[in-house]
Amino acid sequence: MSVPLLLVGGGRMGEALLGGMLAAGRAPAELAVAEVYAPRRAELAEKYPGVTVVEAPVAAEGAVLATKPDGIADAARACVEAGAGRLLSVAAGITTDAISAAVPVVRAMPNTPALVRAGVTAIAPGSSAGDEDLAWAEEILSAVGVVVRVKESQLDAVTGVSGSGPAYVFLVAEALSDAGVLAGLPRDLANTLAFQTLLGSAQLLVQGGDSPADLRAAVTSPGGTTAAGTRELERGGVRSAFLEAVMAATERARELGA
Ligand SMILES: NC(=O)c1ccc[n+]([C@@H]2O[C@H](COP(=O)([O-])OP(=O)(O)OC[C@H]3O[C@@H](n4cnc5c(N)ncnc54)[C@H](OP(=O)(O)O)[C@@H]3O)[C@@H](O)[C@H]2O)c1
Repeated sequence: MSVPLLLVGGGRMGEALLGGMLAAGRAPAELAVAEVYAPRRAELAEKYPGVTVVEAPVAAEGAVLATKPDGIADAARACVEAGAGRLLSVAAGITTDAISAAVPVVRAMPNTPALVRAGVTAIAPGSSAGDEDLAWAEEILSAVGVVVRVKESQLDAVTGVSGSGPAYVFLVAEALSDAGVLAGLPRDLANTLAFQTLLGSAQLLVQGGDSPADLRAAVTSPGGTTAAGTRELERGGVRSAFLEAVMAATERARELGA
């Protein structure tokens, strides 16, 4: 048996990719998932009828490695032994050199909004991967969001910004909602206002056109309410805290990859 695409590791990221590809119109028969944990296999088989669910890698044209980072090298070996022609790894911190497969390897850093098909993934080629391998990876990952191409040396910074980024945004969401409660609103209402504000602001940003600074200026009339609020954020060092957060996460990614 050989399938076009095998996913190794049916965890959160593996399932996000599987669900995204099916929603984007891939036929279930083209996909297989290898997952070591039997109850999870049963769950995936029930939820995604038509997708082949197996315990160990089977022959495939290409394989996506979505196990925990310490399982990636073994998973890569098993996939190549089973006949995979190319590999795509989404493991944080594991370099394409460390995977040392006999086939081309593309490395990717996705983020959790992939679960709702609104992720952003950076991909980088290993030394033996070419344009066709990158195009193959791009097609897989574009099912769960935007894909950008970077050099492998940039992936630690990508991890700091967009890989870890959702956590920073969720922290902002928590704080904005808590502040609403402090200012006298019920929690449900504060959540709706905070979350929808993040969503709408993000939509304005990605529509392009205006820069974040322009958009901020447009809601800030001189001496007004927003000016009073942003002054407190600047006093609290929010801008510098974000710079330090991204640098710390980038440095940690570098350490984990070393
Ligand atoms: N979640 C994120 O935000 C995110 C972002 C970027 C990159 N990533 C990367 O994505 C990878 C997966 O992360 P995750 O959050 O999806 O973790 P997860 O939910 O724990 O998924 C890992 C899955 O792989 C399975 N597995 C482990 N070794 C295996 C093997 N040899 N063969 C088949 N299946 C195997 C695990 O099964 P058991 O639980 O039974 O071991 C589990 O189902 C990680 O390498 C991570 O660095 C995650």
